[in-house]
Amino acid sequence: MRMKVAQLTWLLLMLLPCHHFFFPIVCTANQIDNLNKLIKSRRSKSPPVAQSWAELAVGDEHYSPVYIGPQDGLRKADKIRALPGQPEGVDFDQYGGYVTVDPKAGRELFYYFVESPQKSSSKPLVLWLNGGPGCSSLGYGAMEELGPFRVKSDGKTLFRNDYAWNNVANVLFLESPAGVGFSYSNTSSDYDNAGDKSTANDSYTFLLNWLERFPKYKTRDFFITGESYAGHYVPQLAYTILSRNKNTNQTKINLKGIAIGNAWLDDNTNNKGQFDFYWTHGLNSDEANAGINKYCDFLTGPSDTCTKYQDQAYDELGNIDVYNIYAPLCQSNAMKTASTGFINNFDPCTDNYVNSYLNLAEVQKAFHARNTSWSACNDLGWADAPTTILPTIKQLIASGTRIWLYSGDIDGRCPVTATRYAVNSLKLPVTTDYRPWYYDNEVGGFVVEYQGLALATVRGAGHEVPSYQPERALALISSFLQGKLPPSN
Ligand SMILES: *[C@@H]1O[C@H](CO)[C@@H](O)[C@H](O)[C@H]1NC(C)=O
Ligand SMILES: *[C@@H]1O[C@H](CO)[C@@H](O)[C@H](O)[C@H]1NC(C)=O
Ligand SMILES: *[C@@H]1O[C@H](CO)[C@@H](O)[C@H](O)[C@H]1NC(C)=O
Ligand SMILES: *[C@@H]1O[C@H](CO)[C@@H](O)[C@H](O)[C@H]1NC(C)=O
Repeated sequence: MRMKVAQLTWLLLMLLPCHHFFFPIVCTANQIDNLNKLIKSRRSKSPPVAQSWAELAVGDEHYSPVYIGPQDGLRKADKIRALPGQPEGVDFDQYGGYVTVDPKAGRELFYYFVESPQKSSSKPLVLWLNGGPGCSSLGYGAMEELGPFRVKSDGKTLFRNDYAWNNVANVLFLESPAGVGFSYSNTSSDYDNAGDKSTANDSYTFLLNWLERFPKYKTRDFFITGESYAGHYVPQLAYTILSRNKNTNQTKINLKGIAIGNAWLDDNTNNKGQFDFYWTHGLNSDEANAGINKYCDFLTGPSDTCTKYQDQAYDELGNIDVYNIYAPLCQSNAMKTASTGFINNFDPCTDNYVNSYLNLAEVQKAFHARNTSWSACNDLGWADAPTTILPTIKQLIASGTRIWLYSGDIDGRCPVTATRYAVNSLKLPVTTDYRPWYYDNEVGGFVVEYQGLALATVRGAGHEVPSYQPERALALISSFLQGKLPPSN
């Protein structure tokens, strides 16, 4: 573990949605403010370690048998009859339950799986991972972003997401690692020793066991998707699958591609991209911007003068939701009477509704989850995280894996500028020039294709792209799954 703890803590704090880590209840305006202060207080001056995850992972490439537990009858037991408060006319199968990844430690990961309503057997299998680290793919991904339902403002009933990704795929949401959401370990030290490596390892073990439980998906085209800190998880899991595929006599996972939204890829380019984004969006003064440009060397770590200007830059943001700089804030934590629910108008208090829903005893029972106090993000000790994931991305490019990065263009936390700096640093030849892409006669965003990687923006989307632009997000992911760029007219 060469990375300094303070530096790692700072990195992790940067990535947390304000809502849950240190403020277990909900996100209010003041808490955003508090988080920004906290971020500033934790910033470290130590130069980042540029060692890649693949180098750190040496040794894992040898053949190692993976624990496979008995799966008989479990698929049937995991079938969800109905979720409490779900609307009429649900026309797809849903499953929820646990997969044991380490029986000695007593470690199990929770999943929620939704099949496609139409022609499920001809559609790919898509895994979705939220980031944090420590945040739930059920609470965010499934219930607020790309899942089939959203929670209404009463915190008890659901409405349908017409633009859910199970329109085009069979979608598997994994709460990862243990300690997140409903996933747990009976060995409490597992929570203090979480990290990138064990997360990838457990997710791989999860997949092999899950495929025994759902054997018809064993040979299905498989894609890994996610957002934010899953900028680490997704490439690392893909790398793990490709290297283990070579070295195992167990199931070979038919990995075809990865897509990551507003990904945290590289600490340096993310820092630089963030402050550029603030200034170009009118959120920072010329003075702060000039100071940062003059005094901050993002490669060697911030000097005192640099830190002073960065503090000023954060202060200047004021009380905004940095994950979507134009979004309204949630003004009240109280549940309301159920409104119809509008998929195209994201309610900024949705975190509260989801938190209420997933803590109902009958909801936990219906999901086949343990009786737990569920929260969207939990505090885990993080043992290892490389400062850059770009070497792993390069290895995946060399393997021929389809790689798409997409970027909601009004997110200030992992902004489009940061993703562009990261991609530019790879110096890949352009194969399709930067151009607009269209959905429903509007520019949905912009796209550029490089040799081995595509980068697309989603216009008017924050950090959680499908929350803010559900139609554009579905259009984009459909194109990704088909392996063709989104339409040019
Ligand atoms: C964890 O402990 C609980 C309570 O003893 C037990 O019911 C559960 O089966 C254990 N989980 C695993 C994966 O062993
Ligand atoms: C990976 O998981 C297996 C259990 O499936 C365990 O034996 C092994 O030690 C783990 N390796 C790492 C690097 O966590
Ligand atoms: C896979 O290989 C291991 C190690 O050689 C062996 O113990 C195991 O029986 C093999 N499993 C199968 C299903 O062939
Ligand atoms: C869940 O646990 C809480 C606290 O122990 C208890 O009050 C509640 O009745 C339990 N609910 C169910 C459905 O078992």
